[in-house]
Amino acid sequence: MKLLIFIFLFLSSVCFADNNLELLVSPEEISKKIKEVAATIDQQYADQDLTVIMVMKGAVCVTSDLIRQLHIPVTLEYMKASSYGKNGTSRGELRITGLDTLDLTNKNILVIDDIFDSGFTMETIVQRLQEKKPKSVKTLVLLAKKIPRETSYRPDFTLFEIGNRFIVGYGLDYKEHYRGLNGVYAFINDTPPAVLN
Ligand code: IMP
Ligand code: MG
Repeated sequence: MKLLIFIFLFLSSVCFADNNLELLVSPEEISKKIKEVAATIDQQYADQDLTVIMVMKGAVCVTSDLIRQLHIPVTLEYMKASSYGKNGTSRGELRITGLDTLDLTNKNILVIDDIFDSGFTMETIVQRLQEKKPKSVKTLVLLAKKIPRETSYRPDFTLFEIGNRFIVGYGLDYKEHYRGLNGVYAFINDTPPAVLN
């Protein structure tokens, strides 16, 4: 009997892995906030050039929705930063690629990332961008965790503040899963599924 219960629990955790998720920010809330921040950015960069740099892969959803709400013309570029990869929720070494080929001299830059956690990724990206002699560098993140940080750097635009939980959806992944969800989620009891489909 115990074995049967175990098999049932195991199979249900595999088949219904997405029931494991708790909605933190709905698609409607995201869309409303993006419209608001787009209006602010439109004002701040009126009559100026703007180059948006999307930090792959997590910023894909917020960037694509934001640029479609902007009325000012933007140039879109991308770079890659990764520190989690297939490790899931444990951090690895920060790797930044894709900056070498970008000519950013005398340009207004807006870097967009998915989440500001320790802040190390964004702080490092901004330092690397400053070496390219841009006119200005601002940063925007979809989410910022409410945690104490060693760095004093803060993004110029934060769409939502959230608790210190591992987040997935709307670009953010757990082991490369869940990026395509329309909302922002955490795992129920902060427990990722043991097996992913
Ligand atoms: P930081 O350097 O600690 O600020 O981490 C920022 C990067 O780590 C983000 O660009 C994300 O790719 C990743 N990251 C941090 N927290 C989470 C999370 O809760 N879910 C998914 N990715 C995360
Ligand atoms: Mg990232």
